[in-house]
Amino acid sequence: MYKILTFNNIATRGLERLPRERFEVSSEIQHPDAVLLRSAKLHDWAVPDTLKAVGRAGAGVNNIPMAAMNERGIPVFNAPGANANAVKELVLAGMFLAARNICPAWAFAQTLEGDDAAMNKAAEAGKKQFTGFELPGRTLGVIGLGAIGVSVANAAAALGMKVVGYDPKITVRSAWNLESGVYRAQSVDEVMTASDIVTLHVPEVDETRGMINAARLAASREGQVLLNFARAGIVDDDAIIKALDEGRLSRYVCDFPAAALKGHDGVVALPHIGASTDEAQENCAIMAADEVRDFLETGNVTNA
Ligand code: MLT
Repeated sequence: MYKILTFNNIATRGLERLPRERFEVSSEIQHPDAVLLRSAKLHDWAVPDTLKAVGRAGAGVNNIPMAAMNERGIPVFNAPGANANAVKELVLAGMFLAARNICPAWAFAQTLEGDDAAMNKAAEAGKKQFTGFELPGRTLGVIGLGAIGVSVANAAAALGMKVVGYDPKITVRSAWNLESGVYRAQSVDEVMTASDIVTLHVPEVDETRGMINAARLAASREGQVLLNFARAGIVDDDAIIKALDEGRLSRYVCDFPAAALKGHDGVVALPHIGASTDEAQENCAIMAADEVRDFLETGNVTNA
């Protein structure tokens, strides 16, 4: 009987991939053969000697001490692409809400007082104040062309946007079916200067940490919208504030709360809900559970 320790709520359809007669699954297990987790941070966890595999029900693995796992030969399985549609949909929402000033317009509407007639009269001021722009013909820059980046790029192209994509590993990533109409840039800087909206889809690793910095923002297209539904650490928050204050950025929409950005008019910050749909959580749980099960039972390695 294999013992699987769960650190987060893992969707039932994923747990069903681990038959009860062969797998004991619980958040209480003491000597696990494997762990299944979503975003719990394992950096301070005392890795038990019994551990043989980790299954991450999501794409990123920076909540897992990879060096320690590698040193001990413990494979870490993730679920690439399993939440791509959910994240793509939230990125599109971020793009629309930035283009149409939805958050400040909503906040303004909450301040209106009186009866319907009075509120409608006062609302007139908002029509000009919250004038936005339309997406067809605008350029979207996509930095990182993995499953999520490609999915966003293809959706933006379908909306009539021009799309400029960049990924240093593009030849490896071409398996993700990037539409042929997407222009492939040669560098991050090229994307930053060419785009009205930039969306980030790279993992946080040494090469990408602080990648969107003051120099890059200073050279970016004026009034640009920046979307970050990847990881907080790939942008420099102080540089974001400066770029917003100078008008270089018109809006920063991100999927993380950040103390430095809190309360800034130009920031829309969400509580990391990109993958928070029933469908994405099921897909991720199924993929991670299958990978862990197959590894324990047959030694097969997929997505490690
Ligand atoms: C991911 O890396 O796929 C996300 O962080 C998913 C999540 O929120 O669990």
